Amino acid sequence: MKIVVIGGSGLIGSRLVSKLREQGHEAVAASPNSGVNSLTGEGLAEALKGASVVVDVTNSPSWEDAAVMKFFETSTRNLLAYEAAAGVGHHVALSVVGTERLLASGFFRAKMAQETLIKGSSIPYTIIRATQFFEFVKGIADFSTEGNKVRLPTALIQPMAADDVASAVGRIATGSPVNGTVEVGGPEKFGRTQGFARGCYRPEGALLRYRGEREDARSRRWRSARRDAFRNLAHSVRGESGGGHPLMDATDSG
Ligand SMILES: NC(=O)c1ccc[n+]([C@@H]2O[C@H](COP(=O)([O-])OP(=O)(O)OC[C@H]3O[C@@H](n4cnc5c(N)ncnc54)[C@H](OP(=O)(O)O)[C@@H]3O)[C@@H](O)[C@H]2O)c1
Repeated sequence: MKIVVIGGSGLIGSRLVSKLREQGHEAVAASPNSGVNSLTGEGLAEALKGASVVVDVTNSPSWEDAAVMKFFETSTRNLLAYEAAAGVGHHVALSVVGTERLLASGFFRAKMAQETLIKGSSIPYTIIRATQFFEFVKGIADFSTEGNKVRLPTALIQPMAADDVASAVGRIATGSPVNGTVEVGGPEKFGRTQGFARGCYRPEGALLRYRGEREDARSRRWRSARRDAFRNLAHSVRGESGGGHPLMDATDSG
């Protein structure tokens, strides 16, 4: 089956393309780097020829309110129009768990607009909402840090390994459209402050266990993503502050 992955060079897209190819599918990695631009329409008609499924795992280069809205609206409209012309039978898009509750953020308003366009189109679809990727932990800590203060929400986090997100997207892309939304998430919730702080001290540590599940490939991937995420985070905060980063003194109930 020909599956075009728009954003196929990204964190999720590149993993997804490899997994689909391993399963014997004709997976096309499409992005501006390979001459396919969902924002301008460049290369889309050619890339979508003969495709059964299009997976949208793009992200906007800018998260500024107007820019990110323009990106997801224009890109989604273009994709749906070119898919209709090419007779594509399944549009799959990756979104974020809780999007409708986070509309104070321009990024989430744009993701909501993307979802609304997909639901209103004639193309059979599946929207996959994932929790935050473990690979994004350092980014969260970075953009939450201002001078010697780290401001983190008290809401729990339930991160997922990018590899597992890609597997879930692959499973759904090769199945029938559900014309609805599917949610996927990691196995354990924890508070950002204490979780991140302990993770910095002990990237291999025992704070977060894959509770109640047998040791299997998924749990190994999750632990490995967690270890890498916390190593990166620890490296970042120690590197920038010589160990005195406020995150290292943080406590909460998580
Ligand atoms: N971060 C999280 O925790 C999280 C959680 C749930 C869902 N998500 C969603 O998951 C999706 C994928 O995220 P990611 O981290 O894998 O993204 P990423 O690594 O930033 O990759 C973005 C991809 O979009 C492509 N792209 C950018 N502009 C494009 C354009 N005009 N036309 C076509 N492709 C374009 C990039 O191509 P080039 O390499 O050629 O620039 C790249 O392949 C996003 O929509 C995000 O909202 C994220």
